[in-house]
Amino acid sequence: MADKNSPIGFFDSGVGGISVLKEAVRIMPYEDFIFFGDSKNAPYGTKPREEIRALTFKNVEFLMDMGIKGIVIACNTATSAAVKDLRIMYPDFPIVGIEPAIKPAVTECPGGNILVMATPMTIKQEKFQLLLDKFKEEADIVPMACPGLMEFVERGELDSEELNKYLEQVLFMPDNECYDGIVLGCTHYPFVLDAIKRIVGDKSKFFDGAYGTSAEIKRRIEAAGLDQADKDRKGSISFISSDNRADRIDLMNMLYKR
Ligand code: DGL
Repeated sequence: MADKNSPIGFFDSGVGGISVLKEAVRIMPYEDFIFFGDSKNAPYGTKPREEIRALTFKNVEFLMDMGIKGIVIACNTATSAAVKDLRIMYPDFPIVGIEPAIKPAVTECPGGNILVMATPMTIKQEKFQLLLDKFKEEADIVPMACPGLMEFVERGELDSEELNKYLEQVLFMPDNECYDGIVLGCTHYPFVLDAIKRIVGDKSKFFDGAYGTSAEIKRRIEAAGLDQADKDRKGSISFISSDNRADRIDLMNMLYKR
């Protein structure tokens, strides 16, 4: 049975969710965290929905068996495909998913043009379409599927010619126009933010769900009375990857420290 001293679990299809974990550690430095990345099976974003769901259910169970007191599905793709059913499967357990930060983008850039970068699967899901419908009158929202982009981060390739070429294609706008807002709707993308900024310049505002998601798991853990009692302690972070590669753990530590 999980208690106040139990760790908080984080799950992603790979290393991207570390962008969310960093924010959670910043606001709850006293908690212990276990981060599990399914890099062996990544990417999820180009897989069929049923396969994403099966992998997500299995990996969430793996983390739950480790005695966690709450879980963040730090993957927009897995959240959109599976979070609804996870909540039905574990009704009393704090489960927090992540979704593209369209709401904050529309709030900050009303009437503007907003690019939403995400995996093909996230964009195809009903959950995403409902989110778009909700805000489509308030701004010009352009969804952009980015197959292949998360793979750069999985390789630790955060600054390269190939990456620049990829991003130039995705972010191209005619006549020197620019986006008012860019939503990083996949947890891997904040790690290539510098490369994106080099292409779009400094006029666009950027949005991701890391803070909102971390604040929500904090609130849920506290509401369940499961927050660590000793707020002065320094918590620990354990990284686990499904591909069992030592260099993967090095990459996870490198991304965490960035
Ligand atoms: N990090 C993931 C997300 O937030 C998915 C990347 C993938 O596995 O395609 O959507």
